[in-house]
Amino acid sequence: MTISLRPYLASDAPILAAIYAAAIDELTAEDYTDEQRYAWIALAEDEQTFGQRLASSLTLVALVEGETVGFVSLRDNQLIEHLYVSPNIIREGVATALCDALEKLATARGAQKLTVDSSDTAEPFFKERGYVLQSRNTRIVDEQWLAYMTMSKDLSPPVAPGTVQ
Ligand SMILES: CC(C)(COP(=O)(O)OP(=O)(O)OC[C@H]1O[C@@H](n2cnc3c(N)ncnc32)[C@H](O)[C@@H]1OP(=O)(O)O)[C@@H](O)C(=O)NCCC(=O)NCCS
Repeated sequence: MTISLRPYLASDAPILAAIYAAAIDELTAEDYTDEQRYAWIALAEDEQTFGQRLASSLTLVALVEGETVGFVSLRDNQLIEHLYVSPNIIREGVATALCDALEKLATARGAQKLTVDSSDTAEPFFKERGYVLQSRNTRIVDEQWLAYMTMSKDLSPPVAPGTVQ
């Protein structure tokens, strides 16, 4: 399976909003109640605001055979704000491809550390990538308390051309 990546375009907003909603609805039910998931999904209800948020950060989109299957976004070259993959293509390396590229770009742009407010569902994914738990937190969204974990990872500095490792 070939996963290709490209930067976000404004026309991606509707399909990314659909992937966001489907990923939360179908992949996080073991960790969050129906009410919590609906409140989380509603954060992207206003497609225009959602699209503007993605456009104002570094957002990468993943495609398989021309079909959009996931996305990741990084704010201020330090905070992973979104990472969502279509439920019909999980555990195929889509999130890995997105985060590999994002971490390389962030490193090239001078980031030394990335942080993510990870859902409980995504915690094993980030742990596997070397992100370390900093704190367990909750936030209130539409009268629902949502638990999340703040995790961070130190990035290796870029290797200068010609350097022998
Ligand atoms: C978390 C998420 C982005 C992972 O996407 P994915 O494309 O399936 O991830 P990958 O295939 O790249 O997984 C790479 C590795 O991470 C780990 N991993 C990923 N999902 C996992 C899960 N549900 N449970 C345990 N380990 C998991 C595994 O080690 C996996 O390797 P393996 O499949 O060879 O065992 C996806 O499940 C998702 O969209 N979840 C719902 C939304 C969400 O919570 N987003 C995070 C918001 S911060």
